Amino acid sequence: MKLTLSPMFAAIGLAVGLATSAQAQVTGNVEAGAGKVAMCIGCHGIMDYKTNFPEVYRVPKIAGQNPKYIETVLGEYKKGTRKHPSMRGIAGSLTEQDIADVAAYYTALGDIKGAPELAATPPAAKADVAALLQKGACVSCHGDNFSKPIDPSYPKIAGQYPDYLFAALKAYKDDTHTTWGRGNPVMAGMAKQFSNAELKAISYYIGSLPGEIRTVPQGRFR
Ligand code: HEC
Ligand code: HEC
Repeated sequence: MKLTLSPMFAAIGLAVGLATSAQAQVTGNVEAGAGKVAMCIGCHGIMDYKTNFPEVYRVPKIAGQNPKYIETVLGEYKKGTRKHPSMRGIAGSLTEQDIADVAAYYTALGDIKGAPELAATPPAAKADVAALLQKGACVSCHGDNFSKPIDPSYPKIAGQYPDYLFAALKAYKDDTHTTWGRGNPVMAGMAKQFSNAELKAISYYIGSLPGEIRTVPQGRFR
């Protein structure tokens, strides 16, 4: 039997196409986001707050991060390519609209008016660390000062907590467990070429740099 598309099917196809593109255009709203972050504050709104799984490290600074990156990675926790269990549970409870709203909110939260522009080039690394960064060509994607990534879905990493950076880099090395690790082909290739001691040295250098991301302390009850 030969299948032909009736005009009606074609019309449905068109309608589905439109619905998909409308979905891709979900835009975040800062004020709506403010009403949706109550459950984030207990971890991301406390200076130096630590998680203890799979090891002890500080929960990442997300205020001032790129909104597209926040949306992308919340999607990765939701899908399970990033496996941190608490973030999986949280991201799984958010709709596309919620994700866009909280991303807009956290981006705005870190945008401190009158803050000095970051220098285009950061304080130099020691020779051994500089050689590692050269080998990984990290600036080619994350930007010369590690805060100007070439794509809005890539993270700003300058000034991020170094213990978090180290945990994140190790997580990209191992995607074989169900409750920890990260499946990202680009960063897996990057991380796997370094020993853990080298990743640690890189993390402490990048974490020491001036950056645009921060933890903004917020009371649980506002
Ligand atoms: C129980 C503590 C906890 C809560 C609550 C929590 N987070 Fe997280 N969040 C973490 C930890 C720990 C990580 C790092 C996970 C990992 O290693 O991948 C993280 C990672 C993230 C990241 C990725 C950061 C990066 O640099 O890649 C984003 C974005 C994020 N959280 C947003 C949120 C939002 C939005 C909420 C509220 C809707 C929230 N989190 C609630 C603990 C928490
Ligand atoms: C080809 C582009 C590219 C290169 C080169 C690259 N990165 Fe990345 N990096 C990315 C992307 C894309 C992500 C987001 C991956 C994801 O979704 O988890 C990322 C994520 C990261 C993260 C996780 C940040 C967070 O907040 O969780 C760290 C840390 C990082 N990169 C460090 C480095 C270092 C150090 C180097 C050099 C050794 C490097 N990257 C080289 C593209 C790149």
